[in-house]
Amino acid sequence: MKSKASSPAKVILFGEHFVVYGVKAILCAINKRITVTAETIQENKISIKSNIGNLELEPNKEISEINSPLRPFYYLANKLIKNQNTGIQVYVESDIPLGVGLGSSSACCVAGAAAISRLFKRTSKEEILKLAIEAERTIFENTSGADCTVCTYGGIMEYDKKKGFNKIKYEPNFHLVIANSEIEHSTKSIVDSVKQFKEKNEDEFSELCKKESKLVEDVSELLKENNIIELGNKITENQEYLEVLGISNEKLRKMIQIGQSKSFGAKITGAGGGGCIFALTNESNLEQTMNEFKNKNYDCFSVKIDFKGLDTF
Ligand code: MEV
Repeated sequence: MKSKASSPAKVILFGEHFVVYGVKAILCAINKRITVTAETIQENKISIKSNIGNLELEPNKEISEINSPLRPFYYLANKLIKNQNTGIQVYVESDIPLGVGLGSSSACCVAGAAAISRLFKRTSKEEILKLAIEAERTIFENTSGADCTVCTYGGIMEYDKKKGFNKIKYEPNFHLVIANSEIEHSTKSIVDSVKQFKEKNEDEFSELCKKESKLVEDVSELLKENNIIELGNKITENQEYLEVLGISNEKLRKMIQIGQSKSFGAKITGAGGGGCIFALTNESNLEQTMNEFKNKNYDCFSVKIDFKGLDTF
C-alpha cells in the first residue's frame, strides 16, 4: 500500500511572534512544495528517507530519545501504525529550502500526517491538521499552529490561536521576492528569546501587541482594496516592531534595506534570527527587486500565493 501527499510552504505576511501571544496574524501559502510518500512494509521498522538525512528505527521508541529533525515523521508513523501489524517507509522530497522560516517543518508535518494516515483511513483535512500540529509539537512545543494551518488549507488567511483561521476571499495580485540570509535558525530558541524579552519588558510588549493588532486590522481592509502601496508601508511598520523584539540582525537589516529600496516594503518572515526576508512587489518592480538582490549576491526567488493547500494522491 502506498499513499502520497504534498503541502505548500508558507510566508507569514504579518504577525509572527505576536501570534504566539494571541494577536491575529496574516499568512499565505506559497507555490513551493514538500511531497511525502508513505508505504507499508513487512519488516517491523519505521524508515524515513529525506534530503536532510535518513532515520531507521524500531517502533515504540520514546519520542524524547529521538534526536533528529525527522522526529515528527517518526511520531506520526509510530502513532498511526499502532495495531496495524505493519512497518512503514517514508520518502520526503522538497523544493522548499529547509529551516529558513518558510514553513518546511510544518509542510513536512502536514504532508506526512496526510500521507501516513491515508494509508489506513480517509482522514479529513481537520484530522490531518490536528495530527500535524501534534507532530510539530514534538520539535517545537509552543507552536501557535499558524504554519500548519496555512500549509493545510492554502491561500491567504487570518489566523488567531484561539479562534482558528479565516480565509481571505480576495485574491491579491502580488509577487513576493524571498531572499535567504543563509543563517540557520531554530524557531524554538528564537521564540524562547522573545518570551524572555516579554518577561523583562511586560508593558512595552503589551503596547507592541496592541500596535500589531491594529496593524493587522488595517491590513485586512487594505487587502480588500488591493492597496499595494499602503500594504508595503504596513510591512515596513511591522518590521520595526520585529526589530524591537530583537529577532533581527545586521545581515537581515541589510537585506531589508535592499528589498525596501525597490519594492513596496520588506520584512523578516517567520521566526527571524536568520532565515528569510520577503519584499512585496507586483509586475512594476518584481524584476528590479530581484536584480537588486542578485547584484549583491543574495540567493533570492519569487513566489506567488498557492491556493490549493494540502493535496493528496
Ligand atoms: C514561525 O514560523 C512563526 C512564529 O510566530 C512561531 C509560531 O507562530 O508558532 C515565530
